[in-house]
Amino acid sequence: MRIVFAASEVLPFAKTGGLADVCGALPVELEAAGHEVSIIMPYYKEVGVKKVFNDRAQVDVIGQDIKVYFIKHKAFFGRSSLYGDNMNDYPDNLERFAFFCRQALELLKEIGKPVDIIHCHDWQTGLIPLLLKAPYAGEAFFSATRTVFTIHNLAYQGVFPKEEYAKLGLEEKFFNDSQVEFYGKVNLLKAGIVFSDYVTTVSPQYAKEIQTREWGCGLEGVLQSRKGRLAGILNGLDYERWNPERDVFIDPAFSARDQLAKKIHREKLQKVAGLPVLADIPVFGFVGRLCYQKGFDLIEGAFEELMHRPIQLVFLGVGEKKYQELLKKLARKNPQRFAALVRYDEDIAHQVYAGADFFLMPSVYEPCGLTQMIALRYGAIPLVSGVGGFLDTVSDCGVNKKQGNGFVLSSYSVSGLLEALDRALGLYNQKEKLAALIAQAMDCRFTWQSSVKHFNEVYAACRS
Ligand code: ADP
Ligand code: GLC
Repeated sequence: MRIVFAASEVLPFAKTGGLADVCGALPVELEAAGHEVSIIMPYYKEVGVKKVFNDRAQVDVIGQDIKVYFIKHKAFFGRSSLYGDNMNDYPDNLERFAFFCRQALELLKEIGKPVDIIHCHDWQTGLIPLLLKAPYAGEAFFSATRTVFTIHNLAYQGVFPKEEYAKLGLEEKFFNDSQVEFYGKVNLLKAGIVFSDYVTTVSPQYAKEIQTREWGCGLEGVLQSRKGRLAGILNGLDYERWNPERDVFIDPAFSARDQLAKKIHREKLQKVAGLPVLADIPVFGFVGRLCYQKGFDLIEGAFEELMHRPIQLVFLGVGEKKYQELLKKLARKNPQRFAALVRYDEDIAHQVYAGADFFLMPSVYEPCGLTQMIALRYGAIPLVSGVGGFLDTVSDCGVNKKQGNGFVLSSYSVSGLLEALDRALGLYNQKEKLAALIAQAMDCRFTWQSSVKHFNEVYAACRS
């Protein structure tokens, strides 16, 4: 099939989180499975691709022959970051991404090859399914085109004041509560959910959760109404990129059968993080966006207790100012034990995965989560909350004695966190058992090939 990805971030061109990893890796796997794939994303300042396609777009290639088109608009996309400045969203995000969606469709017409599937990702592309069902509905060029809409994070919905609706250039009739309107405002994620031919999200467990009042972020009713065409497909991990046996960021290499180098990496990490280099103290790592989702209320609540235990913690992340400040404050309180590396740094991220004994990720909710998969591959045993994609990838080694690969909090609470952490510390002192668990963790695979099978079914269902 001819498949086009429309997304607001794609690795290696621009990234703030897992969306970019997915939109960089899945197209390559789809191409390997025989599809003709291309990608459309905005031409941000940081992209820097030189080759001009036409007035509308620049172009590059990834994979074997996946054309990546970048929609140009200096005022909209030539900015210092993707979505906002100083922790505030850009005030014209509706216009920026509505422009992107329309331009993407115009570009496809210029390229001139009819498309079977436009695979859209998150609210920034939510307008595309609606445009195809309405203003573009009569166009012969798109008559056989179907849309898949993937929700990576239901908490980000692209909600704007109703006064902005006019900027979408749509007929008034779509602003109603079963389509684009959401409590009196414009909701672009809702548009994507309602108008696409198929909705997917990034893990089977999250697909269930988002249909409940607790996790539906107000859209549970809309999602339930689409349940016959809603699938939870687990993200894969790019095991070429995340491979401790061949990782340009880490030296020496290591593997499940030869874990000795992990010690060296722990020492290196302690140095990089500015912590005392102690031989027999477990290091807990964290890599991620600093936002409410990632469970910082638990970290803050458990801090004093954590500091009574023989552990060191290394946090690497950027994000909301209040969490950046929180981490810096905790590091000042106990610089021997707690390190806050407040920045985005690919190199150090690899060092954290390689050097940590355990990986801490007590998210409030987690649609899929890639970091726990990476941590597993690098033998950093994950401690996760029992939600979303964590439940599809991490199995508690106390409960599942044969195939467990980590620790799952029994409840989202400070006591749940401490209880899991104490069990991890207990295991840390049983060296043989620990080595066996690390080997088991490193052998876990969440491949894109198995997700591609599901996407093939979804694409086929759209066209039947
Ligand atoms: P989310 O998409 O919610 O941010 P994921 O777990 O799906 O979470 O993906 C996060 C991705 O971003 C991973 O590849 C992780 O290694 C990377 N990442 C997050 N923060 C940083 C950082 N500060 N430096 C380097 N990489 C980071
Ligand atoms: C989102 C989610 C994360 C998921 C990623 C890629 O940002 O927060 O759980 O792994 O998208 O799908």
